[in-house]
Amino acid sequence: MHNAGMAVLGLNWRYLAFDVAPDQLRPAIEGARTMKFIGLNLTVPHKLLALEMLDELDESARHWGAVNTIRFEARDAQGRWRPLAQWADNVPEAIRAKGFNTDADALTWALREDLDWQLLPGARVLLLGAGGAGRVAALKLASEGVGILFLVNRTLSKAEDLAAEVRKRFPRQEISVGYPKNKVDMVINATSLGLKPGDDLPFDPNQFSLQQTRSVYDLIYRPAETPLLKAGKAAGCRAANGLGMLLHQGAQALELWSDKIAPVGEMRRALEKEVYGT
Ligand code: ATR
Repeated sequence: MHNAGMAVLGLNWRYLAFDVAPDQLRPAIEGARTMKFIGLNLTVPHKLLALEMLDELDESARHWGAVNTIRFEARDAQGRWRPLAQWADNVPEAIRAKGFNTDADALTWALREDLDWQLLPGARVLLLGAGGAGRVAALKLASEGVGILFLVNRTLSKAEDLAAEVRKRFPRQEISVGYPKNKVDMVINATSLGLKPGDDLPFDPNQFSLQQTRSVYDLIYRPAETPLLKAGKAAGCRAANGLGMLLHQGAQALELWSDKIAPVGEMRRALEKEVYGT
């Protein structure tokens, strides 16, 4: 999607994937800086490790406690740090690495776009999973003013810890650990259940039924239809997978690097072709 987006914007850049072991993240970032890369994206487990390795953290990275986008910047004659994209050549040698988080905004952008623009304020949400993705989702939903959050996780203590963090940071947020007894507006899967063929549903069918929800969102995008999404559709719910979130975190990263509006439509088409071959 990035290469498609860069082509539309007329940028002579290439987006490449590199496999980096966690204990090599620091030299990998240093190498990219030395070679004057425009920026980097990071995925798990690097999103947390990078917090300690960067010269500067944007408010988004500090707020959500994870970095998925790095932008390299150099100082101009007035002493202002500017993205490397703004230098045609003669990039100064003193370059800093600044970390951002575009995942959190991408989640709510995708929920609105793929499910319902009106959905979030006051919504009743069941969030499945309290790992890295579940944590960012819970905090972001609380920041958006959802009505009540129900948190469920295989390891109960992690759901309790996350609920405590949400309460501390968003004292007015109603939050409860465990399944809702009544109806909810949305179920979000932030567990890894559904990635592998034959995986179970990410909730306990004895304690919750998809008849209780209007919509289902799965952060997983491959496979395109997880057992949860299939069951959600069969129960008459609106259902969407995590491709929109992947798209929007990427589009925001491209905007941070280029200072241009990302061509989201072309990026979506390229992403769908790459991921689903359609
Ligand atoms: P990510 O950063 O992608 O969220 P993670 O932090 O490892 O990855 O979190 C994975 C999530 O999937 C956790 O909520 C995990 O539950 P635990 O906290 O109990 O480990 C959940 N998960 C993984 N495998 C699971 C399984 N077989 N059944 C239920 N939940 C599972």
